[in-house]
This record gives sequence, structure tokens and C-alpha cells, in this order.
Amino acid sequence: TERGGMDSKQSNATKVLMLPWLAQGHITPFLELAKKLSTKDFHIYLCSTPIILTSIQNRITKTQSLSIQLVPLHLPPTSPELPPHHHTTNGLPPHLLPTLMNAFDSASPDFSKLLQTLRPDLVIYDFLQPWAPTIASEYNIPAVEFITTGAAVVSFFSFLAFKKPDVELPFPELQPLLGSFRNAQPNRPVDDGTDGKPTPMLECMKKSSKMILFNTFRELEGKYLDYLPISIEKKIVPIGPLVHETDHHEENKDSAIMQWLGTKDELSTVFVSFGSESFLSKEEREEIANGLELSGVNFIWVVRFPVEERTEVEEALPVGFLERIGQRGLVIDGWAPQAQILAHSSTCGFVSHCGWNSVLESLKFGVPIIAMPMKHDQPISGKVVEDVGVGVEVKRDENRKLNRENIAQVIRKVVKDESGVQVRTKARELSEIIRIKGEKAIDGVVQEFMQLCNRGKTI
Ligand code: UDX
Repeated sequence: TERGGMDSKQSNATKVLMLPWLAQGHITPFLELAKKLSTKDFHIYLCSTPIILTSIQNRITKTQSLSIQLVPLHLPPTSPELPPHHHTTNGLPPHLLPTLMNAFDSASPDFSKLLQTLRPDLVIYDFLQPWAPTIASEYNIPAVEFITTGAAVVSFFSFLAFKKPDVELPFPELQPLLGSFRNAQPNRPVDDGTDGKPTPMLECMKKSSKMILFNTFRELEGKYLDYLPISIEKKIVPIGPLVHETDHHEENKDSAIMQWLGTKDELSTVFVSFGSESFLSKEEREEIANGLELSGVNFIWVVRFPVEERTEVEEALPVGFLERIGQRGLVIDGWAPQAQILAHSSTCGFVSHCGWNSVLESLKFGVPIIAMPMKHDQPISGKVVEDVGVGVEVKRDENRKLNRENIAQVIRKVVKDESGVQVRTKARELSEIIRIKGEKAIDGVVQEFMQLCNRGKTI
């Protein structure tokens, strides 16, 4: 999987070793950061398990000029519960997350060897790799944490972890979430699958050298970015939105979907997808199918199943649904080219679980969001979406059940009704801000890294 030797230009470049967590939502922003840094005179070692590197390689072969070298980290054989090859965390039951984290932990001697051999000037690590900065410090290498989720989420959890529970939450729009998180998890702030250990995200942030990078931007999460240094005492550096950039290779692969979308009118179609880790229950599938039908809006819907529930898509949908929908809808089994679909001129809305990458991709292309958060950080990201005014949440009832009429109503509001004009305008405005900002965030962090690396060398 390793590719590319170092030429003389690269050997003078600042060497950065990047260590993402092995989930789609973490790999994408790490890879996009790697690509951007490699165009700014950095040489990147992207370090992960061999199987993850194979998937990353498929995404960078068309851009050979990038100075990115893939470096395998071999996990020791671990618990037989883990799926073969620890492919990604997609579909991994949450209780196995600690097992996977421990597997990385015990790969740390290998990581030590890599640091000795490669001698990077800087390590950029994911918050789910908390052992990495400890080892980097043994070699006197600065290590910076890159948090791939939103600043609101981290504000919320750090507030819960570091302050007394009866202190008022500084962000009133998140207040309604407080009770539900407390009730669900009385002894810890977040259901992160770590089985009662301290939240690794917060523990890990303390080890970051001087600053912490966030995949966000000020116009979206300014107040949370301002709150974080108070509770965390590090410089908080927003470098987003870093989102999946497509290339022509991918466009060809998914051309049937794109051709279908191309037959639809401008701003006529919603994209419906719930990320790489969430699966709908049978009831949720029913309500969403009926909601889409009732809305009268065109749609592309990505339906996914956990391995053990594998079935034909037709069988998972209400009887006669596909016939009734006809050419108005396209149901995809498993995976669709999300970024390309969101970028398409026929797309007018995104029915989303509010995974952070999905939120950022939607905003990059000015697509307003019909928010249906599922788990983890998503309820908080859904609140941010509503608070900033780029989407509307589909409310669940007191038993967390979805309702088809609600779904249809929110879809129509966000994409066509007069009452949704402001949401559509705001989404377009943020997209314009993102376009104008361009590379500024990365240019800023390049200076920061240079200073950090020089300091690291003189310690
Ligand atoms: C997970 C968590 O669930 C989420 O809450 C957290 O913010 C990040 O990690 P995930 O469920 O994968 O995220 O969602 P998201 O962050 O939105 O990332 C999904 C990525 O997969 C996006 O980049 C999206 O473009 C891509 N994707 C997903 C596709 O390209 N096609 C698909 O069909 C589904």
C-alpha cells in the first residue's frame, strides 16, 4: 500500500504524519487536510491499517502530484468479535469500539518504530487515537489534535464534563438536550462506546500541543469556538469546511445515478441519506417512505442494512411503494456519491442524520437540511443546523417515533413552501461565504504549523 519515494523536494518539506480514526466520517476530513497541506510544501505520511489505506489510495490515484505517502500500521490480532480486517467502524456495534481502540493502543510499539524511521516534524492525530500524542512526546515531536466533528458538540460535552451539572448551559438552544443526555448516561457525558472510561475526546485534547484543529468555520459555529478556549485552555483553530472533493473517476463510476438526476428539473429533488454508521429501524423506514410519498417531491434515497439484516431493498419498503413512486424517486441500495449529488443543480434539499460531514457538505453546496438526527453528536449538530437557520428538524414524539405527515411537511417547508424562504436563503449565503473564504483557513494553519515545528526541533 505504500506509495511514492521521497524526491529531493520532498526531503526539504516539513514532514507531517497524520493518524485518522478508521471511520468514513474521520478519514474524509483527514484526507482532505492531507491533500491541502501537500500543496503547501508539506510532505504527508498518512498512517492507517492496510485495508483503510487501500480505500484511501483509490481516492488519490488520480492526483499523482500530491506529496502523500501511505504508511501502514499493523494492528495485532485482537478479539475475535471484531469484523475481519477491522475494515472501518461502519456497522460496528458501539460496544466493540473500546476493543478496536485497545487494538490501536497495542499497536503503539509499531507506531514508535514509524516515528523513529520517518522522523516527522509534526503529528496530527484523531481524538480517538489518544495514545498517539503520548508517544510523539517521547520523541519530542509536537502533536496536534484534529477534531472532525463540530465545535458545538465538543462545547456541550466539555461543559458537562468540566462544570457542575447545575451551572446554566451557555447555549440555550442546546438546553433541551441536556436532560436526555443526563438521563441516558447519568455517570458520563456521552455515549461514546467506551464503557465507562473518561470521554477520550476530552482527555485527549489536553495532550494536544498548543492548539486543536476543528473541521468547522466561524460563520457556522462562532460562539462555540469562542467558548472552547475557556474550558479547554488551548488555541482553537477552525480549518473547515474540509469536505469530500470528487474527481472525474468517481463521476464515471456513479453515472447512472447522476444521469437520473440530470433528467430532473432544477431544484426539484431531495437527497435522503443517513451516513455510514446509522441504520433505520423498520418503522422509521416505513414513515420515511410514506413521508417522501406524501411530500410530492422527487427524491434519491440511500437505503442501507446492517450485515445481519441483509435483504432485498424492495422487500424492505412498503408494499407497492416503488410502483407508486415511479420516476419520481430513485432508491439506491447501500451507497451513493453524496457530494456529487449535493453539488448537482437538481438537488434542493438534504434529508440527513446530521453527521458532521453531511452537514458541511450540504452547506458547501448551499443545500438546506431536513434534519433527522439519530445518535452520537447528531442531535447537537441538528440543533446547530436549526439555530443557524440552514435547516429544520423533523421532531419525534415522546417515544422518539417519526411521523410521516411531519416528515412530508418539513420537506415541503424546506424545499418549496413560502415559509421556508429564509432557510433556503441562509443555506445559499453560507455556501457563498465558504466559496469566498476559499483556502484562507488552511493558509492560516500553515503558519501555525511552521512555528510549532521549529519550536519542536529546538526543545
Ligand atoms: C459518523 C457519526 O455518525 C457522525 O455523527 C459524526 O459526526 C461523524 O462520524 P457518519 O454516520 O459516517 O459519521 O456521517 P457523516 O459524518 O455525515 O459522514 C458520512 C460520509 O460518507 C460523508 O462524507 C458522505 O458524503 C459519505 N457518504 C455517505 C457517501 O458518500 N455516500 C453515502 O451513501 C453515504
